[in-house]
Amino acid sequence: MGNVVSISDSSTLIGADQPATIRAPEIEAGVGCDFDSYLLVPDNALDDRIAAAKARLGRDVVILGHHYQRDEVVKFADFRGDSLKLSFQAAQAEGRYIIFCGVHFMAESADILRREHQIVVLPDLNAGCSMADMADIGQVEACWSELSSFLDSAKIIPVTYMNSTAAIKAFTGEHGGSVCTSSNAAAVMKWAFESGGKVLFLPDEHLGRNTGYRMGIPLEQMIVWDPDQEFGGNTPETIRSARIILWKGYCSVHQRFTPQQVERVRREHPGIRVIAHPECRFEVAQAADQIGSTEGIIEAILASPVGTEWAVGTEIHLVNRLGKELKDHKVISLDPSVCVCTTMFRITPQHLLWALENLGEGNVVNRISVDEHTRRHARVALDRMLSLR
Ligand code: 13P
Ligand code: SF4
Repeated sequence: MGNVVSISDSSTLIGADQPATIRAPEIEAGVGCDFDSYLLVPDNALDDRIAAAKARLGRDVVILGHHYQRDEVVKFADFRGDSLKLSFQAAQAEGRYIIFCGVHFMAESADILRREHQIVVLPDLNAGCSMADMADIGQVEACWSELSSFLDSAKIIPVTYMNSTAAIKAFTGEHGGSVCTSSNAAAVMKWAFESGGKVLFLPDEHLGRNTGYRMGIPLEQMIVWDPDQEFGGNTPETIRSARIILWKGYCSVHQRFTPQQVERVRREHPGIRVIAHPECRFEVAQAADQIGSTEGIIEAILASPVGTEWAVGTEIHLVNRLGKELKDHKVISLDPSVCVCTTMFRITPQHLLWALENLGEGNVVNRISVDEHTRRHARVALDRMLSLR
């Protein structure tokens, strides 16, 4: 279903609950109707109708597609990229409508970065991110007040991964911190250390640890904050001596990769290179030859000599696409069983068509709209990141 779920605590849905508009009986399946009728559009008609609806909107629409999107959807993207690249695209987009084929936090970020006249649409509002949901604003505020009860909060810099709700980004902006993505986490962390004493890293424990360790911070100076325990499960002494406080959040897709898989792939494919997304656990990142954001993975493979074989630890749609498109390299998944991000997968060609045809008819469906207060503070944290490129 595409029209009635609001995932974030700070963004609302405008125009999503449009009543089905029944026009004429001879009208093609789906045109101008509610989403369900789009399920009846025959598969072989989807491509032509998406292309036609997009062409009709012309420069009024820009489609952004994350690398984890299905092939049938991402092929219609004007820009493909990782979270960082897409946030630059969102900030620079010319179109009146930005259709974000990705997940909810990405569309929220686009709404924070958009210009006044622009409208951001997420084709299926059920496309959330389980990691982003692991840091709830109430829990983060409670953590902050516990930390502030015995530390100088001016010396704690919150750094939040892009994969977080707009409310968490706003909290970060209000407390002098910055957003980061998997491609610039080290640069942002370096800035944070230069600005304060300690980093509170939200919400991905693994990205925080992998980044901190590669910057030379010993493991024992990085502690985990479990929001369900007093002081996050730590003592004031361990918190005082920590340099990074890692929120206990993770990605269920990347957490599946194991060091045993790295061993096996090396045994079965002598000479293979292993690259993993930094959301993978520490042991996997350590066993890999390289870590990289989705864009970083693509760049690393493209830069390697012709014939190089790669095992990639990230979402399967990107891995399969690289396997198909990069003819000069051999690309396989690190995990032989399929690792799908089920929420990215929710965006179907039917959802894209529904959003485009409705825009063509003047109906905005599934608008993502972050409230002004949240938007203003989240923008500070996002702008800080964009300026640190
Ligand atoms: P990238 O910024 O590397 O594209 O990662 C986004 C993401 O959600 C990975 O799980
Ligand atoms: Fe979220 Fe993981 Fe999916 Fe990325 S792969 S969008 S972190 S659930």
